[in-house]
Amino acid sequence: MASPSEPKNSSNTQEQLSEKIKDLELSLPKELWFGFPMQLYQGYWCLSVLLEGIIAFQTHFQPHDTDIILASLPKTGTTWLKSLLFALLNRNKLSHLSELPFNTKNPHELVLHLEIEVFKNSLTNPPDLTQLPSPRLFATHMPYHSLPDSIKTSKCRIVYVCRNPFDTFVSLWHFYLQFEVSKGTSPDKEMMEGYVNKYCAGVSPFGPYEDHVLGYWKESKENPKHVLFIEYEGLKKEPKDHLKKLAEFVGCPFSEEEEKENVIDKIIELCSLKSMKEMEVNKNGKFYVWVENKALFRKGEVGDWSNHLTSSMAKQFDQILEKLKEAGFSFTFYPTKK
Ligand code: A3P
Repeated sequence: MASPSEPKNSSNTQEQLSEKIKDLELSLPKELWFGFPMQLYQGYWCLSVLLEGIIAFQTHFQPHDTDIILASLPKTGTTWLKSLLFALLNRNKLSHLSELPFNTKNPHELVLHLEIEVFKNSLTNPPDLTQLPSPRLFATHMPYHSLPDSIKTSKCRIVYVCRNPFDTFVSLWHFYLQFEVSKGTSPDKEMMEGYVNKYCAGVSPFGPYEDHVLGYWKESKENPKHVLFIEYEGLKKEPKDHLKKLAEFVGCPFSEEEEKENVIDKIIELCSLKSMKEMEVNKNGKFYVWVENKALFRKGEVGDWSNHLTSSMAKQFDQILEKLKEAGFSFTFYPTKK
């Protein structure tokens, strides 16, 4: 099996490698997430459909020192950060912010996920990324420990967005529920309890939640030039300060003139949930073929979980909070004491 530590065997055909991936899949622990099979690979749960792309990414990706990589767990604000980073890095290439292509392209089309899109079906024929203009901007949902070593040792910059586990779960629940509902399932309290239990036991796409958060958080503490750790709640509360910090981190700080012209506020407004919902592409378009863009923009509220989780469900999250606390992590912008 072609793994990150083994050199690529060029005599392997795509079919032979696909067979080896199937064998690997069979050997790994399995779970279902809303009907989607997942495997426990390198200590985290990955949707089976992504395993080949993950291994291709680990095997072939060559970072540039100027690369920017957005890392996140699903439903923590990935789409928002994609739009903000894209706007930050491209704002000076255009004569006006309204020329940013958000009306015709969803942020996921503008900033591709490495394991989901860039390295899809590419174990034997990796894409040539060398010609992409610098800085290249990519995204990943993979945990820090599973990133290729080439990224860990490079000077590229990683932006990590974290969100409190309650709202992340509720967002994930609503997102995946659409697939169950389309099959005729009516969700009930028992079903939700089952998924809360799974989630809090670490079984969710790219989970355990706490390992994911702590991996990037620790790296951001040890190497703040390498990883910028952002909280979704902080970005909502103090968007201007966060955007300035983000712009500095990715190497394109706002000039005095831009500050005077309120460019920061304009980007915040352009990338807001309300504005993104109104973009034509997000009313009718789809991404990854099977997901409607509108499913990416729900409420975007901090604390919406209290409208959905019972107190006994919320209590289950103590196991996550406890592990975060033991590691010395606490949310700066989210009150976790109930
Ligand atoms: P909710 O389901 O709580 O509303 P991701 O992009 O990682 O899939 O995260 C999706 C969550 O981010 C959803 O949360 C969605 O509504 C919210 N979101 C999407 N775009 C946003 C934006 N521009 N501003 C704030 N939140 C946003």
